Amino acid sequence: MEKYYLTTAIDYVNGAPHIGHAYEKILTDIIARHYSQRCDDVYFLTGTDEHGIKIQKTAAAKDITPKELCDENSRKFKDAWKALDIDYTKFIRTTDDYHEKAVQHIFKKLVEKGDIYKHSYEGLYCTGCECFLNPKDLTEDGLCPTHLKKPEVVSEENYFFKLTKYKDAIVKHIKEHPDFILPQFRANEVLNQLEDIQDISVSRSKSNVQWGIDVLDDSEQSIYVWIDALSNYVTAIGYDTENQSDDFKKYWPADVHVIGKDILKFHSIYWPAFLLALDLPLPKHIFAHGWITIDESKMSKSLGNVISPTSVMENFNMENADAFRYYMATSAPCGRDGNYSDDDFKEKVNAHLANSMGNLLNRTLSMLVKYFDGEVKSEFKGDNPLAKKALNTISIVKNHFDNFEISEAGFEIISLVDSTNKYVQDTAPWTLAKEGKMSECGKVLTNVLDIMCIIASLIYPYCPNIARSMASQLSFNINTKLDDLTSDSIKVGKLIEKENIKPVFLRLDSELADKSAKK
Ligand code: MSP
Repeated sequence: MEKYYLTTAIDYVNGAPHIGHAYEKILTDIIARHYSQRCDDVYFLTGTDEHGIKIQKTAAAKDITPKELCDENSRKFKDAWKALDIDYTKFIRTTDDYHEKAVQHIFKKLVEKGDIYKHSYEGLYCTGCECFLNPKDLTEDGLCPTHLKKPEVVSEENYFFKLTKYKDAIVKHIKEHPDFILPQFRANEVLNQLEDIQDISVSRSKSNVQWGIDVLDDSEQSIYVWIDALSNYVTAIGYDTENQSDDFKKYWPADVHVIGKDILKFHSIYWPAFLLALDLPLPKHIFAHGWITIDESKMSKSLGNVISPTSVMENFNMENADAFRYYMATSAPCGRDGNYSDDDFKEKVNAHLANSMGNLLNRTLSMLVKYFDGEVKSEFKGDNPLAKKALNTISIVKNHFDNFEISEAGFEIISLVDSTNKYVQDTAPWTLAKEGKMSECGKVLTNVLDIMCIIASLIYPYCPNIARSMASQLSFNINTKLDDLTSDSIKVGKLIEKENIKPVFLRLDSELADKSAKK
């Protein structure tokens, strides 16, 4: 694998980030970190989507300019991602100069290609979705099914894009590439939507929408937000119709666009059509994740249950985001909806990260210090009954990641932790020591520590801080590529002193956690 280019959806900046936005960025960061363990060149793009009527209206209601609103909220997204250890390569804002220019050129190229025409139109516009809705998709009460709001009747002369021209090519592509849309059960939804697809409006009249990129040569029209937004995936890496940067040549096509299920149509129908019209190759995968609910209800301002990711960290006095990342990433099977609840969060991370994984390392290192003064002797090295399962777990985890089964991969890692714990219970090294079987005891401890290196490496994408702390106590290089992992990483000799043994994760409700956070 020479490069891996992955992107998230870019978030609307009419509000601050919530844990739904965070879910997607965490999943993508985990995928990026996993692939960085398999390839040297990972490019991770995220950003904010800043034009459109939604932003224009929110700014007007706050009596500030749209640009002021964008600057204020885009900063909040960046700050939140920093707190969550989202290690992106680039953050694009659709108000960035280079992006605006490139989008105008893209629009122009589509006009030159003969794929755009002017047409008077009356339609139902949902500001939440920033798109026209098909009357047949509305609820019985005539509301947008996603936002449960009545769409506005809009009558305008707009530019239209010949989406219908590309319908057959997209259907063919989806059918010939069963892994284009993942999880695969979503592909049928898209094929159904394609059946009655029509040409789409790709501009709005400046009399109604001022906060947008002007159509070149027609300052009465601004470019429809989805052409603007979707193009970020190519403009960010230097595409500008006339001029294609080295980065663009290197990274395009994207390996995956990670998006929520609500915007699948735009990514698997509109975006491929625009790309085909621009004579550009299509992304390899589109991975649509599910939605996060709060205590099983949809998150919404009107219900007052919107949770910010940083407030979760503050409420639990967390030093870093590892536990939250782990919880979110394993909150739902691939592509399905997940749920956040404070109680479940605490229970799960305490069980998996503190009781199972953290304690295992802590107990094993403590025994190594107690019985062998922290030293691994050469006679302790040999056949490791856990090796087969551990090496097999690496392949299973890789396989899951290739299908974006992040939660499934997480549970596979915890299953390796559980098997290792069971091995310790079954072999009872403390009893072996009591009986004077020191060599057997040393072998058991070394076997466990060797497997802990694999566990540290596998858990790294989810919990980078915990993994680094584990690796440092094991004198293991956390940057080891997955293909170079062996079940024999622990070096013979002095491994650790008593005072350097530290819990890698403190239970969320423990006094210690409280104290360390206050420090
Ligand atoms: N700006 C568009 C995306 C343009 S991509 C070229 C948009 N923005 S959004 O802010 O509404 O949503 C951004 C991402 O967050 C989407 O992928 C969306 O599915 C995701 N989520 C928003 N709320 C969510 C949950 N409650 N749960 C999980 N993801 C959710 O759409």
